Amino acid sequence: MKEILLATSNQNKVQEFSKILEPFMIKVLSLKDLSDQSEVRENGQSFKENAFLKANYYYKRYQMPVIADDSGIQIAYFNDYPDILSARFMDHLDYPRRNRLILDIMKDIKDRRAFFIAHLTFLKNGERFDYEGVVEGEIASGVKGDHGFGYDPIFYLPNIKKTMAELSEDEKNHVSHRALALKEFVHDIQENHIL
Ligand code: IMP
Repeated sequence: MKEILLATSNQNKVQEFSKILEPFMIKVLSLKDLSDQSEVRENGQSFKENAFLKANYYYKRYQMPVIADDSGIQIAYFNDYPDILSARFMDHLDYPRRNRLILDIMKDIKDRRAFFIAHLTFLKNGERFDYEGVVEGEIASGVKGDHGFGYDPIFYLPNIKKTMAELSEDEKNHVSHRALALKEFVHDIQENHIL
């Protein structure tokens, strides 16, 4: 079993990464496993910059293969906001309230396009690898489903006719933005032996 450190304290992400990488004999260590409560300032201007900031901080600290994810939602009607601010956007509210507010604001809006984006940066032995996954969807007309986290209950997938939160964990791990980016990472591990 090979080990990588996932530079996040978001346990939902740890669970997703672990599930997706387990079949490839990759064990995902989390910051929690290392009792590391440090936080990296995400002051980059893009998902890519923030993913690198996180990966690089822990890579320097632990000198082991590190992968970091920075992800979020872009809502076309909000000019792609909240984008890299997805976690901080209205964070005085919990997600059910944030989601309701978005639905209220968009009640009569026709352009409902939204995107989930995940950028992964992997660092090992001084080398850097980047991957990106994008899922196109729509802001749903109501809150639906209770799987997943964050904006999942209002992110509707027209092809599947379900919100991301209506998908089981396994289903989400086939179609999500993180899953798509991780697919490329796994491909690089298998074909180019980067781990
Ligand atoms: P990060 O941890 O700084 O990358 O922030 C990611 C934020 O984007 C999360 O806190 C959620 O608000 C949102 N987000 C990212 N991925 C997902 C997802 O798969 N479902 C729902 N919300 C997500």
